[in-house]
Amino acid sequence: MVRCAAPFPPCSPPPTEPDEAHLHFMTKGQFPIVTNMHSRKQCLEYLDKIDMPRHIRRHSMLVAKVALFLCELLNRNGSNFDLDLVETGALLHDVGKEPTLATGHDHAQVGAEMLVGIVAPAVVRIVREHILLEPVQVEGPLTESILVNYSDKRVMHEQVVSVQARYNDLIARYAKTPFHRQRLLEKLKLYLALEEKIFSHLAIDPQGPEIMELKL
Ligand SMILES: [Fe+2]
Repeated sequence: MVRCAAPFPPCSPPPTEPDEAHLHFMTKGQFPIVTNMHSRKQCLEYLDKIDMPRHIRRHSMLVAKVALFLCELLNRNGSNFDLDLVETGALLHDVGKEPTLATGHDHAQVGAEMLVGIVAPAVVRIVREHILLEPVQVEGPLTESILVNYSDKRVMHEQVVSVQARYNDLIARYAKTPFHRQRLLEKLKLYLALEEKIFSHLAIDPQGPEIMELKL
């Protein structure tokens, strides 16, 4: 793997117009079914249609920015990430968040179910997997799903933070028992191992200004 000689600037803004040639509309209830929804505009329109709260929408947009930034850098170093898939998965990863706030259901599962038949299966998979990380995934190849998952752990609310800071917040809010705390600390260790793997292909530091200063 060739290392970057110097940090690259953030990726160029994604297209704002839908690529009609790749879209196929049908009808499912009140929403159009977009079997290959991979334009930013289409995704944001979907977020509007489901009334996603503004703070979750802005969080998702920043996750997409971080994920695209990392995948574009990795592509310049020989990877072949599908940037449309990364952006779509990132923009939609939390669609199940608000509907599950009151029920306590798994927002990744619910979000994935909301999107079945609306987006490509690969996008559904990203949404379903975005809160899961097992050692075997860290050891396996880097994928669009893993990169969206990792990028989500770099965005707390609407700000880029370190994985450690994101987990400090999760532990403070959700670790009600020593068992829960231990589980979260084990996850943190896995995400730090994943981070090391991702950045071993890049010439920037995980806490470098190139990524920490990304904003909407
Ligand atoms: Fe998220």
